[in-house]
Order: sequence, then C-alpha cells, then structure tokens
Amino acid sequence: MKDQKIDLSAFGRLTGLPRTTLMSGPTPLSALPNLGSVYNGEVSLLAKRDDIGGLAFGGNKVRQLEFYLGEAKVQNADTIIITGAVQSNFVRLAAAAARKLGIDCHIQLEERVAKSDPYYRTSGNVLLNKLLGATLHSYPDGEDEAGADKNLGVIAEDLKSKGAKPYIVPLAPGHAPLGALGYIVCAQELLQQQKDQGHEIDEIVVASGSGNTHAGLLFGLRRLGSSIPVKGVCVRRGADEQGPRIKERCQKIADFLEIDNPVSDDDVEVDDTFLPPGYGEANNDVMQAILVAARTEALMLDPTYTGKSMAGFMARASQAKKGSTLMFLHTGGTPAIFAYETAFERAFEKFA
Ligand SMILES: Cc1ncc(COP(=O)(O)O)c(C=O)c1O
Repeated sequence: MKDQKIDLSAFGRLTGLPRTTLMSGPTPLSALPNLGSVYNGEVSLLAKRDDIGGLAFGGNKVRQLEFYLGEAKVQNADTIIITGAVQSNFVRLAAAAARKLGIDCHIQLEERVAKSDPYYRTSGNVLLNKLLGATLHSYPDGEDEAGADKNLGVIAEDLKSKGAKPYIVPLAPGHAPLGALGYIVCAQELLQQQKDQGHEIDEIVVASGSGNTHAGLLFGLRRLGSSIPVKGVCVRRGADEQGPRIKERCQKIADFLEIDNPVSDDDVEVDDTFLPPGYGEANNDVMQAILVAARTEALMLDPTYTGKSMAGFMARASQAKKGSTLMFLHTGGTPAIFAYETAFERAFEKFA
C-alpha cells in the first residue's frame, strides 16, 4: 500500500517518522440529508466516514495504527502486543494490521465493563480477534492503564524468552503520542475535502476516549490555521478528567514533533452528558440516537463509542443556528453492535 499524497510539512518531524499506510485512501465526507430533515432541513449535516476503509471493518484506529506499525516495522518486530477492553476495536484492528504485515498479534483484554450483554464475551470484536488468529490474554482490571501496560511488558518478556521480537502498543498517556498523529493526517485530508466540496464546516463532533483522535484532529486543524470547533463527546471518563487529558495530549504532540502547540485551553471542549451509566454501557438517549441514525441514513453505530458521539451530535444539531454545517466524525466500532444484541432487542421494543 502506498502513502497518500498529503502535505504534512507544517508538522515538524512528522514527515520523517515511520508510517505504514493502512487506509485505502481518503475516507468519504458525505451529506446526511435524511438526518438533516429531522431538524427541518435548517442545518446541513455531514459525516466523515472513518468507519469505512482500510482494514477489517475499519474505524479510527486504522489511522492511529499507521504510526505504531510503521515503528514496529522499522524495529523488525514479528509480534504486536496490545491491550484494550473486551470489545475493543483497537485490538481487533491491530490484529488485522499485524496480519497485513505478516506478523503475529497478542491481545490483552481488560475487564472494563461490569454489567455486560451475554454476547459481549463471544461475539463482535472477540469473534474477529479469534478469526484473525490473535493470541488472547486477560487482565482483571479495566481502570488501571499503567498496570495494563506493565503487564504487556510481562507478555513481551515471555515472548522474547521464546525468541520472538515483540512491539508493544502502549495504552497509558505517558508514551509517545503516535496514535494521535494519524488524526493530524485526517485534519489535513478533511480540510482538503471541505475545500474541494465547497463546505464550510461550523463544528465537528467526535468521540473522545483515549483522546488520540480528538487531540490529533484538533491539533492538526489549528496548526493548519482552521478554527473549526471540535466537540469531544466523553465515552470513557467524565469531562473534568477528559479536558485536562486532551490538553496534555496536545502538548505532548507538540513536544514530540518539536513544534509549537497551536491548541489553546479554550479550544478543548468536552461533554460528558451521554457517558452515563459509564464506559461500554448505553443509556436510552444513546440507543435512540443509534436507531435514528440507522433508520434515516443507514449509519451503523455502536453503544460504546459512536452511539454516544451521535447522541452528542444530535444534541448539537438541535441547538445549532439555522444555516450552519455540522460534521460527525464516524469513528467506526461497527462489529461491537453484535456484542450488544440483548440491549438492541430492548431498544427495539422501547422505540418501535
Ligand atoms: C469506534 C471508536 N470510536 C472512538 C474511539 C475513541 O477514540 P480515542 O481512543 O482515540 O479517543 C474508539 C476507541 O477505542 C473507538 O473504538
């Protein structure tokens, strides 16, 4: 796969960093006219379809993995080691990317969701991990990022003792922000599409979890001179923790690329209205948003990430000024739908 022709010269040493292109090209920027008519056609709604393209059901983590896998390749790694929730999309895509590179993948699944669906442990991403032939490990704590990372080190040592050359994709914020770099590339791609298609986007809504997508996109836009507001919808932790995390992540990107940080504190906007009851569980507003998006635009959204960001997007659309243009960043998560069959059955009854 060849590198996309995108000018990244504004981003310091970014162009010199190892990168393996996993995306098959720019993802579509598409109009959502049917959803727009829910708001009487008074706002223009767009979706950047990062759920399409690249690899094994796609998603935002494809862009993030380009830089990790690039580094793994330079290091001649023969195995990727990664951690995530049981229904993590990141680990499924890491396993898929590893296969494209002809190497192995070890996945550590953390217990992050206490009250889960009967299908949560067997279907969706878990099934795909097995299909991709990844080796699965488990970690009992879902809230201990440093501990989960430390245990990846234990798995790595064991593999090394058997002659393997593992590469770790870390979880906690203390590491190089390689994942966020993928969304700097996306910012550049998006601004080009906006220009080519003649849109003027007034606001972007995105799921904010580890923060790599949110921070990378915001950093990229500001550095390229765009002031489009980016609203992060919290999917993992409350706004009081997520806001500082995004600010820190932006500073980390600047330090890593050896350039100035163009993101001000006011640029960082996070909303945790749709987070309850917590990570990996969806409330009625979120399930209803998923149904509305499917039944207007045939958009497939999941209860953990994109259902929440869509609920946030709809809330923004209902408050937006007449004539404004809002963009939803569809970050994927589609396979996880199948891990929530029971929750969907309940939603079908409730919102029939
Ligand atoms: C489908 C989907 N959307 C959004 C996110 C959040 O992205 P980030 O971790 O970059 O904040 C994730 C994270 O796993 C995800 O899988």
